[in-house]
Amino acid sequence: MDGKIRKSELELLNEAFNIFNTATEKLQESYQKLKEETEKLRKEVEEKNQKLEETSSLLSSVLMSTNNAIVAIADDNSIILSNKKYKEYYEIYGDQFLSKLIEFKAEGSYEFDLKGAIFRVHIGKFEHSDVKGWTYSVEDITHLKELEEEHRRDEHLKSMGVMAANIAHEIRNPLGSIELFASLLARDLKNDNEKRVLIESVLKGVKSINSTISNILLFTKEVIVNKKEYYLSDIVDDVVLYLRHLMNDKKIKFVNKIDENFTIYCDNELMKQVFMNLIHNSIDAVNTGGIISVSCYQEGDFDIIIVEDNGCGINEDFMKKIFIPFHTSKTKGTGLGLSIVYKIIKAHSGNIYVESDGKSYTKFIIKLKRG
Ligand SMILES: Nc1ncnc2c1ncn2[C@@H]1O[C@H](COP(=O)(O)OP(=O)(O)OP(=O)(O)O)[C@@H](O)[C@H]1O
Ligand SMILES: [Mg+2]
Repeated sequence: MDGKIRKSELELLNEAFNIFNTATEKLQESYQKLKEETEKLRKEVEEKNQKLEETSSLLSSVLMSTNNAIVAIADDNSIILSNKKYKEYYEIYGDQFLSKLIEFKAEGSYEFDLKGAIFRVHIGKFEHSDVKGWTYSVEDITHLKELEEEHRRDEHLKSMGVMAANIAHEIRNPLGSIELFASLLARDLKNDNEKRVLIESVLKGVKSINSTISNILLFTKEVIVNKKEYYLSDIVDDVVLYLRHLMNDKKIKFVNKIDENFTIYCDNELMKQVFMNLIHNSIDAVNTGGIISVSCYQEGDFDIIIVEDNGCGINEDFMKKIFIPFHTSKTKGTGLGLSIVYKIIKAHSGNIYVESDGKSYTKFIIKLKRG
């Protein structure tokens, strides 16, 4: 009986041990699993943290590199966040920049100007934890506005150009008749000095209107070049003959240094318009007794033609705008002449440069490719 009891006690103890062992093993297994699980979670958190860090550094670098100034301003006007561009603007425009921004307290897009610059601002609301306020994204649109203005001006000019071309066209025919009849009259009156002077004034006026009309028509139309080989001296002689009366009035000495065999490939009529404008400008620029000369030479594949005068010269600032239409220093000038010259030379795939000391001479240098 005693032995039986001991045995069953032993068995029980054994069983208890077995149960304890199994429980321990299971516990160990669970612990291992828990450990693995914890490790996995730790890694996940670590990865997430890293991603978060990467995203936040990406965001901050995007914020910093964007060309818009970005600033978040809380309702109490304290700055919560700002980027590099904002700081740049703040440095330039100071507190006024911030004051302008905080005037806007509603979502949307607005424009404002400050010290000659124009800005566009996009505003959004933000709320984070217990801070509330507005986010401002500001861009400098001064250049954009200038381009818009330029485009508007271009459109305006285009429509004015069409109108001017129509008027010029209408004037040209009666003007042709006036020129013809005035020339006939001048011929008939060659013995009557007094009347001949009067009729020659009419002819001068007609020629002047004619050259302005040619410029207006060339300005509004696309230049179509019909190139052939011409003697340069023929072209220049024609122009000088046409402008002779103006040169005589000022007792100008015209020096033709062109070799009579020198030829250029060009559109005859268009090239006449080029010399007409250049020589006319020189006539205006020189004093009584001034000198105007035209010379030419070859340089490799290029023909170089120079129109030079000893007139008042062109100052450096004015020279930068000289080929832009409507830049004139003359009360009666349209400022179209040189822009036409430029257009024609470019249409010939050539180039034109100007040189002057601003007081005693001006040189226009035309460079044309041979052939
Ligand atoms: N040879 C020159 N010497 C000095 N200034 C010149 C000379 N050529 C041009 N200029 C300057 O350049 C300006 C522009 O010349 P451009 O021929 O384009 O117009 P404009 O002569 O004023 O008017 P127009 O349309 O009647 O020709 C002139 O007003 C003048 O100030
Ligand atoms: Mg001119």
